[in-house]
Amino acid sequence: LPPPTTVTVTGAAGAIGYALVFRIASGQLLGPDVPVRLRLLEVPAALEAAAGTALELADCAFRLLADVDVTDDPNVAFDGAGVALLVGAKPRSAGMERGDLLEANGGIFGPQGRAINDCAADDVRVLVVGNPANTNALIAAAHAPDIPAQRFTALTRLDQNRAIAQVAEHLSVPVTAIDGITIWGNHSATQFPDLAHATVQVDGARRPALDLVDRAWYVDEFIPRVAKRGAEIIRVRGASSAASAANAALDHVFDWVHGTGGEWTSAAVVSDGSYGVPEGLISSFPVRSNGGDWEIVQGLDVDDFARQRIAASVAELEEERAAVGTLGLL
Ligand code: NAI
Repeated sequence: LPPPTTVTVTGAAGAIGYALVFRIASGQLLGPDVPVRLRLLEVPAALEAAAGTALELADCAFRLLADVDVTDDPNVAFDGAGVALLVGAKPRSAGMERGDLLEANGGIFGPQGRAINDCAADDVRVLVVGNPANTNALIAAAHAPDIPAQRFTALTRLDQNRAIAQVAEHLSVPVTAIDGITIWGNHSATQFPDLAHATVQVDGARRPALDLVDRAWYVDEFIPRVAKRGAEIIRVRGASSAASAANAALDHVFDWVHGTGGEWTSAAVVSDGSYGVPEGLISSFPVRSNGGDWEIVQGLDVDDFARQRIAASVAELEEERAAVGTLGLL
């Protein structure tokens, strides 16, 4: 076996963290032949709970788990990290303004970005899960000038997986029949789950998804359902999505490291200006990986409907960037 890869998980004592770390240790993040060293970062008040999780990790006797450290010091947590999963974030509490939320998270993601810059492996891959994920990733990247911005990403794979599941259910086809869905923009209710390039394998032929669903279902049911699925989960489950979010984080990193083959997926990555998204924003795109950096899929036709939807979500990202800029967080 190769030497272990250090995987840092922040917010490890939280709901997503608990759904994530056992699967990482079992090989589902980096593959069945890559040993991992887990570094769990928590706030002081949750260190004890994270230590309890570490005890359970030991009790699994995972053959790939080389070591577990629990710490509240970002410089220790990110030391040598090859993968950093930034899950811990400040949730919005009742009466909290958006500016307060961005500022509170800037206080977390700025210092973590700096610690990643100073301590992580040169080829570190960073995935931000904690919300507001896109802008938290932007803040972390801004504090890591020595690391290419392409290495800082935010999670929209959960939205992508939700979109696939909705189409599969609607058309009564397996999820494996569906290809080419894209999530554009912000991981928020303004996101645009786009079926324009999606295809579905039915009766031995690959057909455009939009030939198989009617427009009203697409615009009035599918798009809002995917964009607001997080709220639906909270309403039905009584708690926010955790296992599905952890699962999507594993998918994101696995595909980034192992490559996507011919298919594409969705991830929030730094914009190079593609599709009119202002350079430097961390926005969701159709992306491919060959095992190196994510590459934005080029050359897709974007019609007026899609252009407007993308622009609306990107406008929200620009507002968030302006707000954290004003707060001195970039
Ligand atoms: P949680 O509240 O159960 O856990 C969060 C954990 O983060 C807590 O244990 C807390 O102590 C820790 N934490 C807070 N500040 C920290 C810091 N500075 N350093 C290290 N740890 C810190 O929340 P849950 O359910 O695990 O969700 C985590 C985040 O993921 C939330 O922001 C949530 O909105 C977001 N989320 C994102 C999704 C996406 O698709 N991008 C999907 C679902 C959730």
